Amino acid sequence: MKKLLLLLTCLSINAFAQAQQENLDWHTLSNYQEVISTHVHLDLEVDFKQKQLKGSIEHQIAPQAKMPSFLVLDTRDLAIHKAEIQSNGVWEKTEFTLGEYDPVRGTPLSIAIKPNTSKVKVYYNSNPQASGLQWLSNEQTAGKKHPFMFSQSQAIHARSWMPIQDTPAMRVTYSARITTTPNLRPVMSADNSPERSKDGVYQFTMPQAIPPYLIAIAAGDIRYKKMSKQTAIYSEEAYLDTAAKEFEDTQAMIEAAEKIYGPYRWNQYDLLILPPSFPFGGMENPRLSFITPTVIAGDKSLVSLIAHELAHSWSGNLVTNATWRDLWLNEGFTSYVENRIMEEIFGQDRAIMEQALGKQELLEEMKELSKNDTILHVELAGRDPDDAFSDIPYVKGQLFLMFLEQRFGREKFDPFVRKHFDDHAFQSLDTNTFVKYLMENLIKKYPGIVTEKEVNEWVYQAGLPVTTPSPVSNAFDNVKKHIANWHKGKGSLSDIPTKNWTIHEWLYFINNLPENISKEQLAELDSTFHFTQTTNNEVAFAWLLLSVNKGYDKVEQRLEQHLISIGRRRLIVNLYKALLEKPKYHSFAEKVYAKARPGYHPLAQGTIDGLFHEKLKTK
Ligand code: BES
Ligand code: ZN
Repeated sequence: MKKLLLLLTCLSINAFAQAQQENLDWHTLSNYQEVISTHVHLDLEVDFKQKQLKGSIEHQIAPQAKMPSFLVLDTRDLAIHKAEIQSNGVWEKTEFTLGEYDPVRGTPLSIAIKPNTSKVKVYYNSNPQASGLQWLSNEQTAGKKHPFMFSQSQAIHARSWMPIQDTPAMRVTYSARITTTPNLRPVMSADNSPERSKDGVYQFTMPQAIPPYLIAIAAGDIRYKKMSKQTAIYSEEAYLDTAAKEFEDTQAMIEAAEKIYGPYRWNQYDLLILPPSFPFGGMENPRLSFITPTVIAGDKSLVSLIAHELAHSWSGNLVTNATWRDLWLNEGFTSYVENRIMEEIFGQDRAIMEQALGKQELLEEMKELSKNDTILHVELAGRDPDDAFSDIPYVKGQLFLMFLEQRFGREKFDPFVRKHFDDHAFQSLDTNTFVKYLMENLIKKYPGIVTEKEVNEWVYQAGLPVTTPSPVSNAFDNVKKHIANWHKGKGSLSDIPTKNWTIHEWLYFINNLPENISKEQLAELDSTFHFTQTTNNEVAFAWLLLSVNKGYDKVEQRLEQHLISIGRRRLIVNLYKALLEKPKYHSFAEKVYAKARPGYHPLAQGTIDGLFHEKLKTK
């Protein structure tokens, strides 16, 4: 009886509680704790007509003392045709079953294996609605003559284009054979060749072990331009030269990071410039970061994004968050390292301005976040990581590291961070393990500087601690004075010495205008500074957002053009939110979204559909 009770109690501990208890990855349904694949080989055809990737994936699995009877892989919306296993060198067909669909995690695929099985091969195809892929028609590209497709697998979308154990807790090396029509070219987060093949067949290898969310693919009429010994641009013809100019400092950025954090371990660092519908600013796919074209401003004002994606070559790709709860270990470190790179290349003034803008944005966003979502070690069980995405892991994470840097000084802090990258290279790490490491290798090593209580407050508690650094920028203080003077009627706008202002000063200016600014004053600003005509997408975003919030209608045309031509979530989501706040803009918002939606990535569509849905519900 006792035994039965025990069994029943065990069974009633659901996956949710278990994941919480043991720091497991709640976001995978795979059995990665029983058996893992160590290498995958993809053999895929990129079929633009059907909007499908089709072919097979072969998993090499690690021998186990106690091999389970099934290999369980994550899938979402995949069509599975056949499974085979190799045991003792002999291939045979095997049974497979798809389990129950979970709205966040997808559908587990269980494949029968034997105690001595070493390879598992699955024949499958993705579906046109795959959440991790976007298929663009000819018209949606810059060249308008060829289609384009790309993957975006972080956080849990790799499973929508390949059956895989989709958890950052484990790593695989990979190889691939990809076929397209000969007039197109596939690229991957692997060893890309500048040469195009004649028959449309391409081979790739990634010999370094990476978490599955970093396996990436794109295909289209992709050209190549070398920038330096380790860096090059891949993109449609239209962006090739402007991107190569804009991002010419990439090699210097690599060297700046190496100086502080040790060697760049991935050989090549290329940039793939995507069509404007790419839903993120950038994605750190190893050896080939995916980049939005919206940062090609012409004056290098937005290249911190490149520093950011490059910085992931240490934080994220080399040392990886073990679960999505630990995202701050990826993004907080990366934002911090990004800023250090920017300081090296562009100087301290700019680096501080970028810190200050980041902190302001965080404070703004925190007004809307639930208390629990302001914790670095955020609770995510039961939730889609895309829905919990915020500035917290980025900026609060960065501020925590800045706090440690300021207390210990760079002479102690920099070697600690470098040692952390070296000691954990090619491993995944969770928050608790990191905190232990931090205690031993920094806090207790130099006693009396930071207490354990302070560390715990930063990592495990909500809000910003009183110890939060406040970046002070003289340039911004000046901008603030000019705003105040103008607002008090002490001088006209045209008297403000804006001639040498950088984009950062303009952004600060727009974001710090008085709360009670009138429409007439916005019109005056616009006619003096021509914000509505700006070609800088960040300035456009800040200005359009302010205009919508204050009901300044003259921007409508520009706003429509912005929302239709850009699919990067950061530059559009808050604009829709602001439009939906005001009933007078509802029909405008609906009209524009109807036009823009077909061009957006499934992720952006999902987010914005959600906003409209919420508004319609409360109407
Ligand atoms: N890895 C992220 C993008 C990401 C994070 C995708 C979490 C899915 C889940 C990438 O490095 C990133 O942070 N991009 C930022 C740019 C950065 C400069 C803040 C973006 O896309 O805005
Ligand atoms: Zn990042």
